[in-house]
Amino acid sequence: MATQPHTTVAIALLGALLALAASPALASYRMPPAKSYMHRPPPAKKMSESKVEHVVLLSIDGLHSGDLTWWLANRPMSALAKLAMSGVVYPQAFVKGITDSFPGVLALLTGGSSKSHGVYYDDSYSRDLWCPGTPCNGSKPTGPPGCELVLDESLDYNLSDPNGGRTGINGDSINPANLPLDKDCKPVYPHQLLTANTIFEVAKSAGLRTAWTDKHPAYDLVQGPSGMGVDQLYTPEINTDYMGLDYTHVAEQIPKYDALHAEAISSWALGFDYQGNPQSGWGVPAIFGGNFQTVSVVAKLYSPVAYEADGMTPAASMLTALEEVDGFVGRIAAYVDVAGRTPNTAFIVTAKHGNAPRKASDLQLLPDTLVPNALKAAGVMPAQVTQDTVSLIWLEDASQIAAAVKALEANATALGIAEVIYGPALLEFAGDPATSPTAPHIVTRVIPGVVYVGNPAKHSKAGDHGGLNDDDNHVALLVSKSGQKPMTVTDRVETRQVAPTVLKLLGLDHTKLTACMTEGCDPLPGLSY
Ligand SMILES: *[C@@H]1O[C@H](CO)[C@@H](O)[C@H](O)[C@H]1NC(C)=O
Ligand SMILES: *[C@@H]1O[C@H](CO)[C@@H](O)[C@H](O)[C@H]1NC(C)=O
Ligand SMILES: *[C@@H]1O[C@H](CO)[C@@H](O)[C@H](O)[C@H]1NC(C)=O
Repeated sequence: MATQPHTTVAIALLGALLALAASPALASYRMPPAKSYMHRPPPAKKMSESKVEHVVLLSIDGLHSGDLTWWLANRPMSALAKLAMSGVVYPQAFVKGITDSFPGVLALLTGGSSKSHGVYYDDSYSRDLWCPGTPCNGSKPTGPPGCELVLDESLDYNLSDPNGGRTGINGDSINPANLPLDKDCKPVYPHQLLTANTIFEVAKSAGLRTAWTDKHPAYDLVQGPSGMGVDQLYTPEINTDYMGLDYTHVAEQIPKYDALHAEAISSWALGFDYQGNPQSGWGVPAIFGGNFQTVSVVAKLYSPVAYEADGMTPAASMLTALEEVDGFVGRIAAYVDVAGRTPNTAFIVTAKHGNAPRKASDLQLLPDTLVPNALKAAGVMPAQVTQDTVSLIWLEDASQIAAAVKALEANATALGIAEVIYGPALLEFAGDPATSPTAPHIVTRVIPGVVYVGNPAKHSKAGDHGGLNDDDNHVALLVSKSGQKPMTVTDRVETRQVAPTVLKLLGLDHTKLTACMTEGCDPLPGLSY
């Protein structure tokens, strides 16, 4: 039963939202049903004027540090520039270690690298799991363990369905028949591979609410080892072919996918579920967010180029992508404002990874058979080689590491390799293959510009990520909150410092993050906490 003031608030809210909806940028945006606003719970009592009660965490995948610098300098009226007006920009922010989307997002959520959270790529290998579909004798899998782990759209029930075959909430679109098996013949979900807890789990254990959106149901990963970190995890399938969609190869289509994420995050900002429906006992989550793919997809397309010849200035396609995503960020900020939560909400905008190379003239597409064939020619048997702008190599027999390294180093330039990383140097960001069942034996840093692909003649991409060069790992980072003195902090920082920063902003104990504590757990400098 609405009291008089409550109704007035609801009507004002509705008016503001309709005004937002009428602006051209929002025209294609599906609004939550109007009745929802009447059921909106009253705003929680403010504890103090600008105490942070919510953190919106956004990854603009592919956004380099240089892209953000350019955007802030050239688009002073943009949503990101507005956030920077009460924010700290970190132009020297790097992803530690491998920059596939899996370790990229886990850096933000666990505060650690693959070394501590145990996850290397969406396509990796485990020495102690069995492949999906392995026959079981009673409760025991048959044959020896060891299987490539492909944790992407291939896990879904139905790729032709935009949500992967079920609702797309909390991993329900993952078909267990597509999962690897453990020693008891039980399916292993992506989140079970984590060896470190997440910020969501720490927030949950403090009784707070969490929500996240990502690009495949396989991002069940972000639930953390408990499988319970995220109250609402919304994962529409980016690789669906529903009604001829091809989000990841068509520049004009990918913003439509990002709009699904923007819609969910905006709905959470109002205290609703991802579709804008009131949810009893829900309220605005303490941590919510997700990622945008438009910048990343545009950078990977072979034509047109995403950057001018200097490899820094966004070309037309990238400008459009940046405008789209800036619009999504602005919309989310507007909804936070409509909900009256701006004084109590911090925004963290960063990128899980960049894309390499930015300079089209550096691009060198090499066949992904080169490295595996060089190993086999030297009598080394790889169990799995995962390659984009990197090679991750798991061997059948760990005693062949030296022979493998020798073969790769002997012909490094022809193989596209700048550095072969193994032994103690690899342990800086990866687990010990002698004890971790998922750790690779060797990782390469490629010659900047090298991208391994199935068929170079097809020119199927202009860039990718996963590797260890600057264009892969030197990414945007901006933290904004009410009352923050605007500044640029030029210290070298790592994106994994986002995890303790989120918790500290919320007044939670960041030393509860296990990966972060193993690798060093300093919240980002320069912020007034
Ligand atoms: C199944 O396991 C039982 C008990 O270990 C064993 O005796 C039997 O040979 C196994 N069957 C097959 C087909 O491997
Ligand atoms: C998969 O999803 C599509 C789109 O919703 C649907 O038309 C099709 O029947 C589904 N296939 C199966 C096997 O359920
Ligand atoms: C080095 O790699 C190139 C390209 O694959 C190959 O043609 C050549 O035979 C290799 N040389 C050696 C010494 O392995």
